[in-house]
Amino acid sequence: MSVKDVASSGLNEIPGEFRASWHVKKASASNSNGQSIPIIDLAGLHGENRSLIIEQIKTASEEWGFFQVVNHGVSPQLLDETFQEQRKFFELPDLKERLKKYTIYSDKEMSQVAKMENETIRSPSNWRDNMALNYAPNLDTQKWPTEPPNFIEVNLKYNQALYHLKKELLDALSESLGLQTSLLDDVLGEGQITNMIYYPPCPEPSYAFGVRPHSDPNSITILVQDEVGGLEVRDKHGEWVQVKPTPYAFIVNVGDQLEIFSNGKYKSVEHRVVPNHDKGRFSIGSFAAPSFTTHVKPPPELTAKQGQLYNGCTYADYVVRFKKAPVFPTSGHKFIDHLKIPQLPQN
Ligand code: OGA
Ligand code: NI
Repeated sequence: MSVKDVASSGLNEIPGEFRASWHVKKASASNSNGQSIPIIDLAGLHGENRSLIIEQIKTASEEWGFFQVVNHGVSPQLLDETFQEQRKFFELPDLKERLKKYTIYSDKEMSQVAKMENETIRSPSNWRDNMALNYAPNLDTQKWPTEPPNFIEVNLKYNQALYHLKKELLDALSESLGLQTSLLDDVLGEGQITNMIYYPPCPEPSYAFGVRPHSDPNSITILVQDEVGGLEVRDKHGEWVQVKPTPYAFIVNVGDQLEIFSNGKYKSVEHRVVPNHDKGRFSIGSFAAPSFTTHVKPPPELTAKQGQLYNGCTYADYVVRFKKAPVFPTSGHKFIDHLKIPQLPQN
């Protein structure tokens, strides 16, 4: 059964496989110091505002690992249309079969990874359904859903727009690290998978995770959410803070590969989704990633001062090991910590 089917079967309690063994307290949109996740206006990114915007991106990436962007160039119409196609898809009959059939990872390594995603070793199960569309490299729309009728056309447009926005953001991030503009996109920007996600209403939102606490294994993630809310980010003091739904904004976060490449300057932080009692929630996440054969390690410019803080590895290796690693939802451990090179004590 899809989680949507479980949710609509009229339960008052969540089934055991979804149950967290502790109470999940919903966070507010600011931390106890009154700070919230920055919203950055990208208007004028290619004009006189560029250096100011890059400075804001730098501060947000250092302080939060998360920020929202507005005036990002992707039209509200395209966002509306894409959400509409997503809603229609999740309303089709036999959802479970469709999700199984279409969540494809076209690369060989990725199919290995998909097989390994054994939810029983990663408990509790996420209270969500999702379908991943592979856009780059190796775009093959033959493997995308043929229903609803406009799904492929709209999602192609959406992915093209997101691939462009990804380049804009990686270029800005590259400059913000003092690197040559296209370096980040060249190393970390080749792949794109877009995940269409549905979080059904949940009878016990205080004991379930829409998605368990995790950091993203890829380079950067660009996500749009609807008005329901529920995405929460762990700030640098360990406090959970909600990402406030902001119409037509994208949420951008640093993934593990950018943390490794930036030599720890930018942190890939933990985040989670708390489900809603009354309302289902839709989000669409586009995951930029290196090619699987790319060996990710920080460039010499970023290791001169401190030395290299992480062991590099190929992205394929990273993903395989990441998927196999047990989950520690409460301890704040991140898989990336396994790559940290032990540092000699200073002085
Ligand atoms: C993810 C994720 C958040 C959301 O899919 O990695 O963190 O709001 N999603 O759907
Ligand atoms: Ni995530």
